[in-house]
Amino acid sequence: MTITARASLAGVIGWPVAHSRSPLLHGTWLKRHGIDGAYLPLPIRPEDFAVCVAALARMGFVGANVTIPHKEAAFALCDEVAPSARRAGAVNTLVFRDGRMVGSNTDGVGFMANLRAHGVDPAAGPALVLGAGGAARPIGAALLDAGVVVHFCNRTEDRAARLAATIGGGVIGWEDRAAALGDHALVINTTSLGMAGHQSLTLDLARAPAGLAVADIVYVPLETPLLAAARARGLRAVEGLGMLLHQAVPGFAAWFGVTPVVDEALYRVVAGDLLT
Ligand SMILES: NC(=O)c1ccc[n+]([C@@H]2O[C@H](COP(=O)([O-])OP(=O)(O)OC[C@H]3O[C@@H](n4cnc5c(N)ncnc54)[C@H](OP(=O)(O)O)[C@@H]3O)[C@@H](O)[C@H]2O)c1
Repeated sequence: MTITARASLAGVIGWPVAHSRSPLLHGTWLKRHGIDGAYLPLPIRPEDFAVCVAALARMGFVGANVTIPHKEAAFALCDEVAPSARRAGAVNTLVFRDGRMVGSNTDGVGFMANLRAHGVDPAAGPALVLGAGGAARPIGAALLDAGVVVHFCNRTEDRAARLAATIGGGVIGWEDRAAALGDHALVINTTSLGMAGHQSLTLDLARAPAGLAVADIVYVPLETPLLAAARARGLRAVEGLGMLLHQAVPGFAAWFGVTPVVDEALYRVVAGDLLT
């Protein structure tokens, strides 16, 4: 649509940023709601991050998403960080307001909203989080904050132990991941295993209880080998693209003043783009 001189401007800051589906996602919502605004890809080098973010704010941008490798730098730069960002140790959403830069992290709420959209109650029982990287932290924190018992299980066990010491939860050895399934209601792959171009995650589901829900946050491919294996066993499977869509909702609402909906049509638009 045509934008006017009063358009609200936002975007996604990353390096690189060409792979990001956020412009398509936010652009679809802007069009759907007829909003006078634009959401742009903003490729910014790490060494330029601070000066460029300050410039965006000075230029009247309403805010931005922040992706790899800037999430920790954004955290350090904010005038104010929401509890979600403090728990995550990283910021993925910036709002420029009254000359101040406010940061939050929407990965945890996005993950939880996607679980619920798939009919999975996160509070049904303990959760086993595979991985201890950038995505494991906000997801683990969101589960812990919802009162869920969480165990982290990572190839590098020390990293899982440090994460648990920082945000809470326990640790299970990487080699024990299949045996531990029986003690959990939910298992989440937050590693990069299963992603196109990476090895598959090896997780024997033979001993998985019938009520286990299996979530994968990897969304390229949409149906990872883990999700396919879960479905083949009749287990509930929660795909990762929904998390990406749901985590975008709070930013859009803050910048453009409309709370958008994640629905089948939006899923099809972004999923279709992933297939091209
Ligand atoms: N759906 C969404 O909205 C969403 C959001 C964020 C991220 N993601 C996806 O989540 C994945 C992880 O992202 P991230 O930012 O957390 O990455 P990250 O910080 O680099 O962490 C990678 C994790 O994967 C583990 N890992 C990597 N290679 C492994 C291997 N060969 N065997 C066992 N474990 C291995 C690492 O374990 P070590 O500690 O042992 O190295 C670590 O726990 C990516 O595929 C990303 O695209 C999706």
